[in-house]
Amino acid sequence: MARVLLLPGDGIGPEVTEEARQVLVRVAPDLELQEGRIGGCAIDADGTPLSEASLAKARACGLVLLGAVGGPKWDGLAPEQRPEKGLLRIRKELGLFANLRPARVLDALADASPLRREAVAGVDLIVVRELTGGIYYGEPRGRSDEDGARRALNTMVYDEDEVARIARVAFEIAKGRRKRVTNIHKANVLEVCQLWNEVVEEVARDYPEVELEHQLVDSAAMLLLRDAARFDVLLCPNLFGDILSDEAAMLTGSLGMLASASLGAPGRGLFEPVHGSAPDIAGQDKANPLGAILSVAMLLEHGLARSREAERVRQAVEQVLDQGYRTPDLVRGPQGLGVGTREMGKRVREALG
Ligand code: IPM
Ligand code: MG
Repeated sequence: MARVLLLPGDGIGPEVTEEARQVLVRVAPDLELQEGRIGGCAIDADGTPLSEASLAKARACGLVLLGAVGGPKWDGLAPEQRPEKGLLRIRKELGLFANLRPARVLDALADASPLRREAVAGVDLIVVRELTGGIYYGEPRGRSDEDGARRALNTMVYDEDEVARIARVAFEIAKGRRKRVTNIHKANVLEVCQLWNEVVEEVARDYPEVELEHQLVDSAAMLLLRDAARFDVLLCPNLFGDILSDEAAMLTGSLGMLASASLGAPGRGLFEPVHGSAPDIAGQDKANPLGAILSVAMLLEHGLARSREAERVRQAVEQVLDQGYRTPDLVRGPQGLGVGTREMGKRVREALG
């Protein structure tokens, strides 16, 4: 029997994960669910953002559904001890190098975007972000204060194999979509991006049916605001993917809508909404659970190869949005039927039938 580890985490994580859990139980009652701690709550309970016990559980289950980590309570800690470190560690330890972040503008939400409807209509893209390398993990790193002057450094580094494997994921995904990969780089300044681009071009030769274009990251940030509908698959190094995926999320109406999958070897994956822990609204029944629920759809699709159930979940989400239900983050312009976290979750489950 397949097992899924729930790691609700901090802030709004537990609230949205609970709604997602109930959806998962509804569409896949045969799964065995376990629970663990990550992030700030784990620092408080275990003295570390990801204990060996939680990591062992994650390894044993293979599939993880995560809420969010972090909050002001732990903001003063050094990077090595912060809640985010738990997330970075689980990604690395499980070898989840491919992070998929789809952003699609649903017709029902085109007016919820801060951009004009014309600018976002038809947007349907996916960010494929390298997740276990680059500047997030590069060595050397740290503080190196000298003679009373403060100094700090990080290193952006990629091996050709790391680039090739994420590039292949991007091209494979593009094959099943509109067959266009936009490679995001800053090769006019960074050697690491020159190597990245070289390797991407080599991989592209195995995919003659997929069109490859290169975009500088700054220019891509601009194009996302001007003409995001032109993008299909965006292939990004870790840091650029982090930044552009938040930007892409806003096109869809709210960061609260976006789901993600982090994949490695078959049968392994971590699924989480892209939004953070939003401590300002935690515990108030205001958070949008749809990003977490759509992460369940990604878990069904990529983790369990149950595409039919995944589609059912996506359809249910679209149905409640078409009916006009809106959490506060989605309300802009004409007021919809305002609902909280729990009611939104309940409506989705009702729509599942
Ligand atoms: C994300 C988040 C994380 C990241 C943080 C919380 C470490 O912003 O998943 O995009 O930077 O990867
Ligand atoms: Mg981010």
